[in-house]
Amino acid sequence: MSGRRPPAGATIRAASAADYPALYAAAALCSPTARECLPDAVTFATLAEEVPTLVAVNADGIVGYLLASPLAFDGDAPVSLWLEAVAVVPNRRRRGLATALCAALAAAARSAGARALLGSTPTSPAMAALLARVGFVAHRDGLLLWRLDAD
Ligand SMILES: CC(C)(COP(=O)(O)OP(=O)(O)OC[C@H]1O[C@@H](n2cnc3c(N)ncnc32)[C@H](O)[C@@H]1OP(=O)(O)O)[C@@H](O)C(=O)NCCC(=O)NCCS
Repeated sequence: MSGRRPPAGATIRAASAADYPALYAAAALCSPTARECLPDAVTFATLAEEVPTLVAVNADGIVGYLLASPLAFDGDAPVSLWLEAVAVVPNRRRRGLATALCAALAAAARSAGARALLGSTPTSPAMAALLARVGFVAHRDGLLLWRLDAD
């Protein structure tokens, strides 16, 4: 994951359990919802081992993150992932960071053999615009679907 083209001076890399305190602090800056959505440290560590959990990092530390979890498996390989959260700190928004995080997730998911990303339809217009722009389309039951095998 390291070496991915950095938008706005940030690098996107896979998160590790050690990132949790900084990620928690970043979530608190992002929005009250972002902090509420964050799993506890133990769950975070498990997630980070299972599927790509991504952070955008610059000289200030973590400025954005994306959490996902496996939804369905073929053997040990995830065939679909659930988009848990994506967030960027307010003073780094509208510079392509969330777009880059979503693209990095899609690339990593494809490499792992996954064929789809799913998420819930967001209430926030910014999040809805972001997800539509990166490739999610309306699915059924209030879900969004990004077919990775259709791009
Ligand atoms: C939604 C969010 C992740 C977008 O991050 P970002 O890095 O600013 O997004 P990008 O710069 O990649 O924007 C990509 C596109 O998304 C759309 N978009 C992003 N923010 C938007 C806003 N405030 N209003 C309308 N459209 C928006 C635009 O189409 C944008 O492209 P453009 O800048 O060329 O117009 C960010 O605003 C955020 O973190 N909000 C809080 C989210 C949160 O609480 N997450 C936790 C949920 S559990």
